Amino acid sequence: MVVLGIETSCDETGVALYDTRRGLLGHALHSQVAMHAEYGGVVPELASRDHIRRLLPLTRQVLERAKLGIRDIGAVAYTQGPGLAGALLVGASAAHGLAYALGVPAIGLHHLEGHLLSPLLADPAPEFPFVALLVSGGHSQLMRVGGVGDYTLLGETVDDAAGEAFDKSAKLLGLGYPGGPEIARLAQRGQAGRFQLPRPMIASGDVNFSFSGLKTAVMTLVNKHPLDDQGRADLCAEVQAAIVDVLVAKSLAALEDTDLTRLVVAGGVGANRLLRERLTARADARGCTVYYPDLEFCTDNGAMIAFAGAKRLERNEQEDGLSFSVRPRWDLEELTPPAAGLAS
Ligand code: KG4
Ligand code: ZN
Repeated sequence: MVVLGIETSCDETGVALYDTRRGLLGHALHSQVAMHAEYGGVVPELASRDHIRRLLPLTRQVLERAKLGIRDIGAVAYTQGPGLAGALLVGASAAHGLAYALGVPAIGLHHLEGHLLSPLLADPAPEFPFVALLVSGGHSQLMRVGGVGDYTLLGETVDDAAGEAFDKSAKLLGLGYPGGPEIARLAQRGQAGRFQLPRPMIASGDVNFSFSGLKTAVMTLVNKHPLDDQGRADLCAEVQAAIVDVLVAKSLAALEDTDLTRLVVAGGVGANRLLRERLTARADARGCTVYYPDLEFCTDNGAMIAFAGAKRLERNEQEDGLSFSVRPRWDLEELTPPAAGLAS
């Protein structure tokens, strides 16, 4: 069966086709980053309007490229939450409209479940169970993943997410949005250690995180020192090193606590090269393996939603009737089996 996946939870319109027999048939993405850049962050109303403009042309594009017709779609999966309410509604209403017109099932997905399962699109795919480090713009969590829908929270941030720490530090440094890639780019010609930032909660004895102190420390440094280009690069290198050090230490602690040997990294911050290098090196040294989604599937995309939708449909989950809702706030642990609450 071919599943159409639709992702519109934030500032990326993602569409993909996943065939339960042949795998991913194609995907397309439109990023609104340039549109939001002048505001220094995502403007929800602009995001919703742009999703409306992009969604159907992108859907036509993936169908054409996969040489499929609209009638080949066997189910429609969409991001039901969490995210921006208006943006989610665009995807949810388009998905339900299409599913109704085609007489096929629709299924609403949790955005983070999409991220969590996205490394399974890669080859080799990790086997269950594994520890997942989920690091996106709004979340920093370590989960134990026993199977589709079997998610146990091991630890999470008590304040800002890792992506937020990148984004807020970048803003303080006068860099563009999103901040993670900008900081990583400047850090390449900087020297970590020249400025010293804390590694919050690194020795707290649990696998929770705290990143809000970092932005305060960055603010203090920026206010104290007028930074030249090299200074900004050095501070970027330190910001990146501080975040990566904490993520690596906590991920290894989670592997140890759970006695598992497979670690999966998901979410936008998972695209960070230093994080990948350090995690892989430290995990290898302990006989553990780290799995990453392909870079293009780290940040928001339709493929992860089509894939997660296919996995849920395999378990005969789908939504009944014509009504639907979105869930701008939605706790991933609510999905723990039996996967309740998906049908609205
Ligand atoms: O998963 P994602 O695309 O969107 C959410 O669901 O939030 O994650 C976006 C986050 C942003 O905070 C962005 O700055 C960060 O991922 N990010 C990175 C990198 N690429 C994206 N952070 C560090 N290094 C990167 N290369
Ligand atoms: Zn995301």
